[in-house]
Amino acid sequence: MRGTMVRGLASAIVALFVSGVAAQDRWCGKSYQANSPLVMPGGRLEPPTRSSTPLLDLKITPRHSIYVASEEGGEFIVDAAISYIHGSPWSASTNDTTKQPDRLKVTIAWQNQTLAMGTVVPGTTDNLFPVDLKTMEPRMEGYPITLTATSRNSDSKYSVTTELFLLPEKSTGSVVKIDNLYGSLLYRNPTTNGVFLPAFPYGFYGDYSGYLNKSASNIEKYVSLGFNAVNVVNSFADADMAATIRTMDRLNLLFQYDMRGSYKNLSSIAWQVPLVKDHPSLLTWYTADEPDGWQDPLDAPKQAYDLIASLDRYHPTALVLNCQNYHFEEYSAGADIIMEDAYPIGINATYSEKWKTACNETFGDCGCDNCEGSVLDVASRIDDFHDYQAWLGGTATRKPVWAVPQSFSIPEDYWSRDPTSEEAWAMDVLALNHGAKARLAWIYPTSDALGSALSRIAKVVTASPVMDFLTGANPALLQDGKDRGLDVAYWKYGGQVLVSVVAPGDSVANVGIALPADVEVTRVVSSPWGGIGWTLDGNTLRAKGGLPSMATSFVILQ
Ligand SMILES: *[C@@H]1O[C@H](CO)[C@@H](O)[C@H](O)[C@H]1NC(C)=O
Ligand SMILES: *[C@@H]1O[C@H](CO)[C@@H](O)[C@H](O)[C@H]1NC(C)=O
Ligand SMILES: *[C@@H]1O[C@H](CO)[C@@H](O)[C@H](O)[C@H]1NC(C)=O
Ligand SMILES: *[C@@H]1O[C@H](CO)[C@@H](O)[C@H](O)[C@H]1NC(C)=O
Ligand SMILES: *[C@@H]1O[C@H](CO)[C@@H](O)[C@H](O)[C@H]1NC(C)=O
Ligand SMILES: *[C@@H]1O[C@H](CO)[C@@H](O)[C@H](O)[C@H]1NC(C)=O
Repeated sequence: MRGTMVRGLASAIVALFVSGVAAQDRWCGKSYQANSPLVMPGGRLEPPTRSSTPLLDLKITPRHSIYVASEEGGEFIVDAAISYIHGSPWSASTNDTTKQPDRLKVTIAWQNQTLAMGTVVPGTTDNLFPVDLKTMEPRMEGYPITLTATSRNSDSKYSVTTELFLLPEKSTGSVVKIDNLYGSLLYRNPTTNGVFLPAFPYGFYGDYSGYLNKSASNIEKYVSLGFNAVNVVNSFADADMAATIRTMDRLNLLFQYDMRGSYKNLSSIAWQVPLVKDHPSLLTWYTADEPDGWQDPLDAPKQAYDLIASLDRYHPTALVLNCQNYHFEEYSAGADIIMEDAYPIGINATYSEKWKTACNETFGDCGCDNCEGSVLDVASRIDDFHDYQAWLGGTATRKPVWAVPQSFSIPEDYWSRDPTSEEAWAMDVLALNHGAKARLAWIYPTSDALGSALSRIAKVVTASPVMDFLTGANPALLQDGKDRGLDVAYWKYGGQVLVSVVAPGDSVANVGIALPADVEVTRVVSSPWGGIGWTLDGNTLRAKGGLPSMATSFVILQ
């Protein structure tokens, strides 16, 4: 596989045959070859059993995954959701109408030092508590933080913990952190004048030996198309990347450093991280590429994660999962960012011509695990991952999910054709509507048609005003395309509302999107994407001339 373009799971299978692995080998835990015995895939995450009584799901999370010494203020996010799957028994007094509505008196402390105090309404999330970081010494080790909460009505006490990182200043290269409120990335490097700026990473995995490494002008061209981030499919364990990284530094092309081939070798990680960690354009680390498809050891990503964090706390770590529901808990424990790579276009979701078998939930490989073969598979996979995170609870719930959409040409394999431009845009916008916080497609260079189509949307989502919404707010899904209509989400930011619409099925002649009561708008400000004319009729958004199938559109309202 080395030296040729890596093709994900497809070539993984080929490589396995070449290396003579037994024919019973399984993908996503499934047998995939005709006549091989049915092996029930394990590792499924199921919804937790529901409690019959309400629980208080109290959580505390630092607003930012890390802070550095020069930052004077930080924040904690306090969630006090009433849940039926996670938390501690919540007193029935909440339904006692003779009493005032309950309140939680909360204290946030490090050992005996109180950092913040206040009141939280039970049933709310995303409560912010500012803290003064100047009272704490920057250090590499995390600060154990305790949140204690007391119910005003019942006097019941609750307590949860988290870890705050206040790191020493870093004078070289980039510092990148996750804003846990919105799941977006903030980066600081010599181009940002000492300030942390939000980024919406939009780009591709990039072929190294066949393209990016061939000349700096290939990287310059990629940047000129509007792509602001890249995952170069190469590491120092494969070949010397120094020239490519220097070019990315010069162009401020934010890169995810990919250790797919070496991440299980901890001494290799220990050798590579120091070579890369101080580069200004380093965005994130990348360890396992489809560890679930390959059936890597379940603890391999976590081992790599812990080592990377011990060598460099200044950048988050990502990995991609290929299966719909196969050991999500174990593999996702090894990353701060979870990527999905459902490739649904041009597949036969029910029959594999390649393996001459049917595909179903327990058997077969049709190129996209448990997919339907529609752009909506991308939305479904992102929703699945968010569901699993909610089921797992605790710190898992706020990990950003990133999309790896299909943007390649492999006509001879599972995928009979490329996505059209409209399908590629639809997969991107569906990913945004369902909460993806970055997008790196597989793989660049793509076809000229997709390259220029995706360049157009790249320039929209990576710049103001659209980027401000994507990084500074969370989407609220208003209509789910999986219900067979339009897929509509909105973001509120800076007194305006971005509404994003996809028509994933048939064309829709009369489009009337009723906006919820909390969206108070009176006029259309602009339509930054999609060429659809929108009018506001009371609180209903209408598209002039309807929406063709696969239409995508952004409209900003005020
Ligand atoms: C409290 O009231 C809600 C809404 O009426 C109800 O669903 C819930 O079961 C009640 N909880 C208890 C503990 O009685
Ligand atoms: C607070 O904790 C520190 C460190 O454990 C300890 O030295 C100090 O005596 C404590 N102060 C009080 C008032 O308990
Ligand atoms: C591409 O990578 C190879 C292997 O690391 C290196 O020898 C070569 O100089 C690189 N080419 C360019 C144009 O940087
Ligand atoms: C692991 O990485 C080290 C350091 O790069 C290297 O010397 C060693 O050969 C690698 N081991 C394997 C099994 O690839
Ligand atoms: C999938 O393959 C089966 C068997 O060849 C065929 O009957 C079916 O029409 C195909 N479905 C699609 C969507 O191509
Ligand atoms: C999936 O297909 C296999 C092989 O044909 C069959 O044995 C199994 O029962 C099917 N599973 C489901 C859930 O239909």
